Amino acid sequence: MNVIDEAKLREHFAHPPEDLSLDDIDLGRIPRHVSFIMDGNGRWAQERGYERAYGHVKGVDALREAITTAVRLGVDVLSAYAFSTENWRRPQQEVELLMGLFARTMLAELPLFHQEHVRLRFLGDLEAMPADTRAAFEEGLAETESYDRMTVALAVNYGSRAELTRAARLVAQEVAAGRLAPEDVDEEAVASRLYTAGLPDPELLVRTSGELRLSNYLLWQLAYSEFYVTDIYWPDFDKWEFLRAVRAFQRRDRRFGGVKA
Ligand code: IPE
Ligand code: IPE
Ligand code: MG
Repeated sequence: MNVIDEAKLREHFAHPPEDLSLDDIDLGRIPRHVSFIMDGNGRWAQERGYERAYGHVKGVDALREAITTAVRLGVDVLSAYAFSTENWRRPQQEVELLMGLFARTMLAELPLFHQEHVRLRFLGDLEAMPADTRAAFEEGLAETESYDRMTVALAVNYGSRAELTRAARLVAQEVAAGRLAPEDVDEEAVASRLYTAGLPDPELLVRTSGELRLSNYLLWQLAYSEFYVTDIYWPDFDKWEFLRAVRAFQRRDRRFGGVKA
């Protein structure tokens, strides 16, 4: 569990822009799990005359800032969509660049995970990743497995349909083996076989770059999440944008199918 250190929090959010203040945020109602669809790296770069690759490099900086901000705000789980099962359709050069960036970034960022006691998890099928990327991820998993302040769950080679199909297959195998009765297949039986097993569902989903779609992300887990879409491209998503998202979340009226209290 992540407990807020008020002094560090105030320091992190010193000198806010005019329209924002930490006082607008109810620190007792911070979303436990915030999830990000980190979109717009390519457009960010292209609009500034750079190669798309540079947008991905800047995207890493934005993710590092989001992780630090989440730690300061007392968030328990930060998840982020880094590579979808559909992203293999991109030009081979871009896919290779991303895989290399993942491997280097994982190793370079480990000190932050140690310093803040952040545990790493992956959502998705790592088997299909290049060996060096996978090895870096496995090192990250092993080195952070004892930490319990906050969890960072990175969705890599992740797709919701693949995840749900896998869960159905795992359930079917249990049933066929006689270890699970069909009438015992309930929501928990499915949820516990998803990559997110054991994690709370996201309360807040943030998508950058203005697209109004889920792109095969956490279809089951987002059933009752609040959506926040900003036109800002991911490399420009900083701690203040994060605070804006939390402020918007706290102004929502969450009903879960019931009536207003
Ligand atoms: C998100 O940025 C990062 C990944 C999908 C890996 P994009 O690469 O999708 O950037 P745009 O959407 O083309 O601008
Ligand atoms: C979603 O972004 C996947 C990630 C952010 C990793 P995409 O850029 O791949 O999604 P589409 O193609 O715009 O739906
Ligand atoms: Mg995109």
